[in-house]
Amino acid sequence: MSRSAAAALLYRAGVMPVVTVRDADSAVRIARALVQGGLGAIEVTLRSDAALDAIAAIRREVPGMSVGAGTVLDADQLQAAQDAGAQFVVTPGTPPVLAEALMAAAVPVVPGAASVSEILALTARGFDAVKLFPAESLGGAAMVRALRGPLPAVGLCPTGGIVETQLPDYLAQPNVLCVGGSWLVRDEWLAAGDFDAVRDAARRAADALAGARGRR
Ligand code: 3PG
Repeated sequence: MSRSAAAALLYRAGVMPVVTVRDADSAVRIARALVQGGLGAIEVTLRSDAALDAIAAIRREVPGMSVGAGTVLDADQLQAAQDAGAQFVVTPGTPPVLAEALMAAAVPVVPGAASVSEILALTARGFDAVKLFPAESLGGAAMVRALRGPLPAVGLCPTGGIVETQLPDYLAQPNVLCVGGSWLVRDEWLAAGDFDAVRDAARRAADALAGARGRR
């Protein structure tokens, strides 16, 4: 089976910062800091009013950053995200009606799932890359390991409750394409305007990724 565009995108990213932005200006500064740190993708959740403007601004102003929309819950949000310029779309979970809409998307999509049955419902529709959410609550790296037995061809992007120290353990799993989370862009850093902290967190994650890929 050839790898889907979504799987290729996730693998290339390796680490996916998940960010809920306050405004487009700070979103651009976050994206620049992440690129400076060595990361090339960002998931902007649609959980704030500024999200669509932020996606458009990052797309326009931050070359080298692939910007996606996260927390996409329905077909209307999928359309709005694409209209804003989102280069990929991520969902936290994927009921059948949303899976139908995702199959018609014009950009790579990463549907969310939380169980073997949910993953199987997605692979039956042709998806080969899945956001495992909420990863830590579901069982963390141990669950990722367990999924590889029955589902060796499914690439995962575990996300949800992951902290920096856990990154190497996730990245070491052969069925992990990418690891997502908000630990790279903490609210207190943004409140303090400390974008250097974002850059440094991105750099540590990029180093962990390079180390993990080198060992595989
Ligand atoms: C998401 O929407 O993917 C999560 O909010 C990110 O998870 P985290 O904040 O627990 O890292």
